[in-house]
Amino acid sequence: MHDSQATSIDRQLIFTADADAAQIALSELQSLDPYAELIEWLAPGIGRLALSMSWGALTHQMRRHPPVFCRHICPVQVHVPVQKHIFEPERLAHAALSLLPHLRAGQSFSVQTRLLGEDWSFGRYDVNTRLSEEIAAQEIAPHGLPLDVRNPQQVLSAVLVEGHGYLGVSRTRDNLSAWAGGERRFRREKEQISRAEFKLLEAVELFDLTFPGEGLALDLGAAPGGWTRVLRQHGLRVIAVDPADLDARLAHDPGIEHARELAQNYLQHNDARYDVILNDMRMDARDSARLTLAAIERLAPHGWALMTLKLPEGQMAQVASEALALLGQHATIRGARQLFHNRSEITVALGHKGGR
Ligand SMILES: C[S@@+](CC[C@H](N)C(=O)[O-])C[C@H]1O[C@@H](n2cnc3c(N)ncnc32)[C@H](O)[C@@H]1O
Repeated sequence: MHDSQATSIDRQLIFTADADAAQIALSELQSLDPYAELIEWLAPGIGRLALSMSWGALTHQMRRHPPVFCRHICPVQVHVPVQKHIFEPERLAHAALSLLPHLRAGQSFSVQTRLLGEDWSFGRYDVNTRLSEEIAAQEIAPHGLPLDVRNPQQVLSAVLVEGHGYLGVSRTRDNLSAWAGGERRFRREKEQISRAEFKLLEAVELFDLTFPGEGLALDLGAAPGGWTRVLRQHGLRVIAVDPADLDARLAHDPGIEHARELAQNYLQHNDARYDVILNDMRMDARDSARLTLAAIERLAPHGWALMTLKLPEGQMAQVASEALALLGQHATIRGARQLFHNRSEITVALGHKGGR
Protein backbone atom coordinates (compact mmCIF):
# COMPACT_ATOMS: atom_id res chain seq x y z
CA MET A 1 0.00 0.00 0.00
CA HIS A 2 1.64 3.22 -1.12
CA ASP A 3 0.62 5.48 1.78
CA SER A 4 2.05 3.16 4.43
CA GLN A 5 5.52 3.83 3.09
CA ALA A 6 8.11 6.09 4.59
CA THR A 7 9.02 8.92 2.21
CA SER A 8 12.40 10.65 2.28
CA ILE A 9 12.41 14.38 2.75
CA ASP A 10 15.26 16.78 2.12
CA ARG A 11 15.98 20.14 3.77
CA GLN A 12 13.20 20.47 6.28
CA LEU A 13 13.21 21.06 9.99
CA ILE A 14 10.79 21.43 12.86
CA PHE A 15 11.44 24.33 15.23
CA THR A 16 9.96 25.05 18.62
CA ALA A 17 9.50 28.29 20.53
CA ASP A 18 7.19 29.69 23.15
CA ALA A 19 3.79 30.11 21.45
CA ASP A 20 3.94 33.90 21.95
CA ALA A 21 7.37 34.11 20.35
CA ALA A 22 6.80 31.74 17.42
CA GLN A 23 6.93 34.47 14.76
CA ILE A 24 10.11 35.88 16.24
CA ALA A 25 11.71 32.43 16.22
CA LEU A 26 10.68 32.03 12.57
CA SER A 27 12.32 35.37 11.72
CA GLU A 28 15.49 34.29 13.51
CA LEU A 29 15.67 31.17 11.32
CA GLN A 30 14.92 33.19 8.21
CA SER A 31 17.72 35.58 9.06
CA LEU A 32 20.07 32.57 8.88
CA ASP A 33 18.43 31.13 5.75
CA PRO A 34 16.64 34.00 3.96
CA TYR A 35 14.97 31.60 1.50
CA ALA A 36 13.55 29.32 4.18
CA GLU A 37 9.75 29.06 4.06
CA LEU A 38 7.26 28.10 6.70
CA ILE A 39 5.27 25.07 5.52
CA GLU A 40 2.82 24.95 8.44
CA TRP A 41 2.34 25.42 12.16
CA LEU A 42 2.02 21.93 13.60
CA ALA A 43 0.93 23.29 17.00
CA PRO A 44 1.25 26.66 18.77
CA GLY A 45 4.95 27.54 18.71
CA ILE A 46 5.93 24.50 16.61
CA GLY A 47 6.58 25.08 12.91
CA ARG A 48 7.72 22.97 9.96
CA LEU A 49 10.12 24.84 7.74
CA ALA A 50 11.49 24.20 4.24
CA LEU A 51 15.15 25.21 4.12
CA SER A 52 17.04 26.39 1.08
CA MET A 53 20.34 25.27 2.62
CA SER A 54 21.41 21.95 4.11
CA TRP A 55 20.90 21.14 7.79
CA GLY A 56 24.69 21.20 8.21
CA ALA A 57 24.99 24.66 6.67
CA LEU A 58 22.18 26.00 8.85
CA THR A 59 23.57 24.63 12.10
CA HIS A 60 27.00 25.98 11.19
CA GLN A 61 25.46 29.46 10.81
CA MET A 62 23.56 28.95 14.03
CA ARG A 63 26.72 28.34 16.04
CA ARG A 64 27.98 31.73 14.90
CA HIS A 65 24.62 33.49 15.42
CA PRO A 66 22.69 31.56 18.05
CA PRO A 67 18.95 32.31 18.11
CA VAL A 68 17.36 33.62 21.28
CA PHE A 69 13.68 32.76 20.85
CA CYS A 70 14.03 29.52 18.89
CA ARG A 71 14.37 26.89 21.59
CA HIS A 72 14.82 23.65 19.69
CA ILE A 73 15.25 22.44 16.13
CA CYS A 74 15.33 18.96 14.65
CA PRO A 75 15.71 17.85 11.04
CA VAL A 76 12.95 16.12 9.08
CA GLN A 77 14.40 13.42 6.83
CA VAL A 78 11.53 11.02 6.52
CA HIS A 79 7.74 11.21 6.61
CA VAL A 80 5.50 8.33 7.60
CA PRO A 81 1.69 8.23 7.87
CA VAL A 82 0.57 7.95 11.50
CA GLN A 83 -2.84 7.56 13.11
CA LYS A 84 -3.65 8.68 16.61
CA HIS A 85 -5.98 5.82 17.40
CA ILE A 86 -3.72 2.92 16.35
CA PHE A 87 -0.18 2.26 17.45
CA GLU A 88 1.67 0.94 14.41
CA PRO A 89 5.20 0.45 15.68
CA GLU A 90 6.33 -1.51 12.60
CA ARG A 91 5.62 1.43 10.38
CA LEU A 92 7.52 3.82 12.64
CA ALA A 93 10.36 1.33 13.02
CA HIS A 94 10.60 0.96 9.24
CA ALA A 95 10.90 4.76 8.93
CA ALA A 96 13.46 4.91 11.76
CA LEU A 97 15.61 2.17 10.22
CA SER A 98 15.66 4.04 6.93
CA LEU A 99 17.62 6.71 8.86
CA LEU A 100 20.38 4.33 9.98
CA PRO A 101 22.85 5.77 7.44
CA HIS A 102 22.52 9.12 9.23
CA LEU A 103 23.48 7.69 12.63
CA ARG A 104 27.21 7.75 13.42
CA ALA A 105 28.48 4.30 14.36
CA GLY A 106 29.97 4.06 17.82
CA GLN A 107 28.27 7.26 19.03
CA SER A 108 25.53 7.10 21.64
CA PHE A 109 21.98 7.88 20.62
CA SER A 110 18.51 8.30 22.01
CA VAL A 111 15.03 8.60 20.53
CA GLN A 112 13.02 11.70 21.44
CA THR A 113 9.35 11.54 20.52
CA ARG A 114 6.78 14.30 20.76
CA LEU A 115 3.07 13.64 20.27
CA LEU A 116 1.37 16.90 19.31
CA GLY A 117 -2.30 17.33 20.19
CA GLU A 118 -4.54 15.29 22.46
CA ASP A 119 -6.04 11.81 22.52
CA TRP A 120 -3.19 9.61 21.37
CA SER A 121 -3.90 5.95 21.97
CA PHE A 122 -0.23 5.42 22.88
CA GLY A 123 2.45 7.38 24.71
CA ARG A 124 5.73 8.90 23.59
CA TYR A 125 7.64 6.40 25.70
CA ASP A 126 6.01 3.56 23.72
CA VAL A 127 7.53 5.05 20.58
CA ASN A 128 10.90 5.86 22.23
CA THR A 129 11.23 2.34 23.58
CA ARG A 130 10.24 0.55 20.42
CA LEU A 131 12.44 2.61 18.11
CA SER A 132 15.48 2.56 20.37
CA GLU A 133 15.25 -1.21 20.77
CA GLU A 134 14.99 -1.56 17.02
CA ILE A 135 18.05 0.65 16.41
CA ALA A 136 20.18 -0.74 19.24
CA ALA A 137 19.59 -4.26 17.86
CA GLN A 138 21.23 -3.39 14.54
CA GLU A 139 24.70 -4.78 14.15
CA ILE A 140 26.69 -1.76 13.17
CA ALA A 141 30.46 -2.11 13.04
CA PRO A 142 32.65 -1.50 14.90
CA HIS A 143 30.93 -0.54 18.18
CA GLY A 144 27.23 -0.58 17.40
CA LEU A 145 24.95 2.24 18.47
CA PRO A 146 24.87 2.50 22.27
CA LEU A 147 21.65 3.83 23.74
CA ASP A 148 22.14 6.72 26.20
CA VAL A 149 18.93 8.53 27.09
CA ARG A 150 20.64 10.92 29.54
CA ASN A 151 23.48 12.31 27.51
CA PRO A 152 23.27 11.10 23.90
CA GLN A 153 25.68 12.35 21.24
CA GLN A 154 22.98 12.01 18.58
CA VAL A 155 19.23 11.99 18.60
CA LEU A 156 16.54 10.47 16.44
CA SER A 157 13.68 12.95 16.76
CA ALA A 158 10.13 11.85 15.99
CA VAL A 159 7.38 14.48 15.89
CA LEU A 160 3.92 13.00 15.47
CA VAL A 161 0.73 14.89 14.62
CA GLU A 162 -2.55 13.40 13.49
CA GLY A 163 -1.87 11.81 10.09
CA HIS A 164 1.86 12.43 10.01
CA GLY A 165 5.13 11.37 11.58
CA TYR A 166 8.28 13.38 10.90
CA LEU A 167 11.59 11.76 11.76
CA GLY A 168 15.18 12.94 11.53
CA VAL A 169 18.64 12.35 12.98
CA SER A 170 21.02 15.03 14.24
CA ARG A 171 23.87 15.64 16.66
CA THR A 172 22.39 16.63 20.00
CA ARG A 173 24.38 19.86 20.16
CA ASP A 174 22.93 20.99 16.82
CA ASN A 175 19.36 20.83 18.20
CA LEU A 176 19.89 23.87 20.51
CA SER A 177 18.64 21.81 23.45
CA ALA A 178 19.36 18.25 24.55
CA TRP A 179 15.67 17.84 25.44
CA ALA A 180 12.81 16.99 23.09
CA GLY A 181 11.38 20.33 21.94
CA GLY A 182 13.62 22.04 24.51
CA GLU A 183 11.20 20.93 27.24
CA ARG A 184 13.51 20.71 30.21
CA ARG A 185 11.42 19.58 33.17
CA PHE A 186 12.61 19.31 36.75
CA ARG A 187 11.09 17.45 39.62
CA ARG A 188 9.46 19.77 42.15
CA GLU A 189 11.18 19.60 45.52
CA LYS A 190 9.20 19.90 48.73
CA GLU A 191 11.47 22.75 49.88
CA GLN A 192 11.04 24.70 46.64
CA ILE A 193 10.20 28.35 47.27
CA SER A 194 9.26 29.57 43.80
CA ARG A 195 8.83 28.25 40.28
CA ALA A 196 11.61 30.68 39.32
CA GLU A 197 14.04 28.09 40.64
CA PHE A 198 13.45 26.01 37.51
CA LYS A 199 14.59 28.92 35.34
CA LEU A 200 17.86 29.15 37.21
CA LEU A 201 18.48 25.40 37.04
CA GLU A 202 17.64 25.30 33.34
CA ALA A 203 19.89 28.28 32.57
CA VAL A 204 22.86 26.91 34.50
CA GLU A 205 22.60 23.65 32.54
CA LEU A 206 22.00 25.21 29.12
CA PHE A 207 24.74 27.84 29.40
CA ASP A 208 27.14 25.37 30.99
CA LEU A 209 27.71 27.48 34.10
CA THR A 210 29.31 26.10 37.26
CA PHE A 211 28.57 27.29 40.77
CA PRO A 212 31.90 27.99 42.47
CA GLY A 213 31.07 25.93 45.60
CA GLU A 214 31.89 28.78 48.00
CA GLY A 215 32.05 32.55 47.93
CA LEU A 216 29.56 35.40 47.81
CA ALA A 217 26.58 35.83 45.50
CA LEU A 218 24.41 38.86 44.85
CA ASP A 219 20.73 38.18 44.10
CA LEU A 220 18.93 41.28 42.79
CA GLY A 221 15.14 41.06 43.00
CA ALA A 222 15.47 38.03 45.24
CA ALA A 223 12.00 37.73 46.82
CA PRO A 224 10.44 35.35 47.64
CA GLY A 225 13.86 33.66 47.54
CA GLY A 226 13.88 30.72 45.14
CA TRP A 227 17.15 31.67 43.48
CA THR A 228 18.66 32.52 46.87
CA ARG A 229 17.74 29.03 48.07
CA VAL A 230 19.49 27.45 45.07
CA LEU A 231 22.61 29.58 45.68
CA ARG A 232 22.65 28.47 49.32
CA GLN A 233 22.29 24.83 48.24
CA HIS A 234 25.49 25.34 46.26
CA GLY A 235 27.40 26.66 49.25
CA LEU A 236 27.38 30.36 48.40
CA ARG A 237 26.66 33.10 50.90
CA VAL A 238 24.01 35.42 49.50
CA ILE A 239 23.14 39.08 49.66
CA ALA A 240 19.46 39.06 48.68
CA VAL A 241 18.33 42.51 47.55
CA ASP A 242 14.59 43.16 47.43
CA PRO A 243 12.19 45.50 49.24
CA ALA A 244 9.74 42.58 49.45
CA ASP A 245 9.75 39.79 52.05
CA LEU A 246 11.77 36.62 51.67
CA ASP A 247 10.10 33.30 52.42
CA ALA A 248 10.02 32.61 56.15
CA ARG A 249 12.07 29.43 55.66
CA LEU A 250 15.08 31.63 54.76
CA ALA A 251 14.73 33.94 57.77
CA HIS A 252 17.15 32.20 60.14
CA ASP A 253 19.82 31.27 57.61
CA PRO A 254 23.03 33.07 58.68
CA GLY A 255 24.35 32.69 55.12
CA ILE A 256 21.73 35.12 53.79
CA GLU A 257 21.77 38.87 54.26
CA HIS A 258 18.49 40.45 53.19
CA ALA A 259 19.07 43.99 51.92
CA ARG A 260 15.52 45.26 52.06
CA GLU A 261 15.88 48.03 49.51
CA LEU A 262 15.86 48.79 45.80
CA ALA A 263 18.81 47.49 43.78
CA GLN A 264 19.52 51.04 42.57
CA ASN A 265 20.16 52.12 46.16
CA TYR A 266 22.02 49.02 47.19
CA LEU A 267 24.51 49.22 44.33
CA GLN A 268 25.39 52.80 45.27
CA HIS A 269 26.62 52.06 48.73
CA ASN A 270 28.06 48.57 48.40
CA ASP A 271 31.50 47.57 47.23
CA ALA A 272 31.75 43.84 47.96
CA ARG A 273 33.16 41.37 45.34
CA TYR A 274 30.78 38.76 44.05
CA ASP A 275 31.48 35.36 42.56
CA VAL A 276 27.99 35.08 41.08
CA ILE A 277 25.50 37.84 40.32
CA LEU A 278 21.83 37.10 39.60
CA ASN A 279 19.13 39.53 38.57
CA ASP A 280 15.49 38.51 38.20
CA MET A 281 14.02 41.96 38.88
CA ARG A 282 10.61 42.70 37.45
CA MET A 283 11.34 45.97 35.64
CA ASP A 284 12.02 47.41 32.19
CA ALA A 285 14.60 45.18 30.51
CA ARG A 286 16.87 48.06 29.54
CA ASP A 287 16.91 49.52 33.07
CA SER A 288 17.56 46.08 34.43
CA ALA A 289 20.45 45.61 31.96
CA ARG A 290 22.04 48.87 33.17
CA LEU A 291 21.78 47.75 36.79
CA THR A 292 23.36 44.40 35.95
CA LEU A 293 26.24 46.21 34.26
CA ALA A 294 26.73 48.34 37.37
CA ALA A 295 26.82 45.17 39.46
CA ILE A 296 29.20 43.37 37.07
CA GLU A 297 31.87 45.95 37.93
CA ARG A 298 32.05 44.09 41.24
CA LEU A 299 32.14 40.60 39.73
CA ALA A 300 35.23 38.51 40.55
CA PRO A 301 37.49 37.92 37.50
CA HIS A 302 36.19 34.39 36.80
CA GLY A 303 32.67 35.00 38.05
CA TRP A 304 29.50 34.92 36.00
CA ALA A 305 26.20 36.74 36.01
CA LEU A 306 22.75 35.65 34.96
CA MET A 307 19.69 37.79 34.43
CA THR A 308 16.20 37.72 33.04
CA LEU A 309 14.97 40.43 30.68
CA LYS A 310 11.22 41.01 31.05
CA LEU A 311 9.71 41.68 27.63
CA PRO A 312 6.49 43.59 26.93
CA GLU A 313 3.89 41.96 24.70
CA GLY A 314 4.12 43.12 21.10
CA GLN A 315 7.66 44.46 21.52
CA MET A 316 9.46 41.37 22.70
CA ALA A 317 12.06 41.17 19.93
CA GLN A 318 12.75 44.90 19.89
CA VAL A 319 13.18 45.30 23.65
CA ALA A 320 15.28 42.14 23.85
CA SER A 321 17.62 43.36 21.16
CA GLU A 322 17.96 46.81 22.76
CA ALA A 323 18.75 45.32 26.16
CA LEU A 324 21.20 42.79 24.67
CA ALA A 325 22.96 45.59 22.77
CA LEU A 326 23.36 47.53 26.03
CA LEU A 327 24.72 44.49 27.81
CA GLY A 328 27.09 43.68 24.97
CA GLN A 329 28.77 47.09 25.25
CA HIS A 330 30.26 46.35 28.67
CA ALA A 331 29.96 42.60 29.21
CA THR A 332 30.45 39.34 27.32
CA ILE A 333 27.16 37.65 26.51
CA ARG A 334 27.80 33.94 27.07
CA GLY A 335 24.31 32.97 26.01
CA ALA A 336 20.78 34.33 25.66
CA ARG A 337 17.66 32.21 25.28
CA GLN A 338 13.98 32.13 25.97
CA LEU A 339 14.07 29.06 28.19
CA PHE A 340 11.31 26.51 28.57
CA HIS A 341 10.67 28.01 32.02
CA ASN A 342 10.63 31.62 30.73
CA ARG A 343 7.30 33.20 29.86
CA SER A 344 7.45 36.83 28.64
CA GLU A 345 11.16 37.04 29.23
CA ILE A 346 14.52 35.73 28.14
CA THR A 347 17.50 34.68 30.24
CA VAL A 348 21.02 35.97 29.60
CA ALA A 349 24.35 34.62 30.89
CA LEU A 350 27.14 37.18 31.18
CA GLY A 351 30.79 37.52 32.05
CA HIS A 352 33.38 40.28 32.10
CA LYS A 353 33.99 42.07 28.82
CA GLY A 354 36.70 40.17 27.00
CA GLY A 355 36.10 36.97 28.99
CA ARG A 356 34.63 33.75 27.60
C1 LIG B 1 10.11 37.47 39.64
S1 LIG B 1 10.40 38.09 41.25
C2 LIG B 1 11.91 37.30 41.64
C3 LIG B 1 11.77 35.85 41.96
C4 LIG B 1 13.04 35.26 42.54
N1 LIG B 1 14.11 35.17 41.56
C5 LIG B 1 12.84 33.88 43.12
O1 LIG B 1 13.49 32.95 42.69
O2 LIG B 1 12.02 33.74 44.04
C6 LIG B 1 10.82 39.74 40.93
C7 LIG B 1 11.23 40.55 42.14
O3 LIG B 1 11.86 41.77 41.70
C8 LIG B 1 11.71 42.69 42.74
N2 LIG B 1 12.06 44.03 42.26
C9 LIG B 1 11.45 44.77 41.31
N3 LIG B 1 12.09 45.95 41.17
C10 LIG B 1 13.15 45.94 42.05
C11 LIG B 1 14.18 46.86 42.35
N4 LIG B 1 14.27 48.04 41.73
N5 LIG B 1 15.09 46.51 43.28
C12 LIG B 1 15.02 45.31 43.91
N6 LIG B 1 14.06 44.40 43.65
C13 LIG B 1 13.13 44.71 42.73
C14 LIG B 1 10.25 42.52 43.15
O4 LIG B 1 10.03 43.02 44.47
C15 LIG B 1 10.07 41.00 43.05
O5 LIG B 1 10.20 40.40 44.31
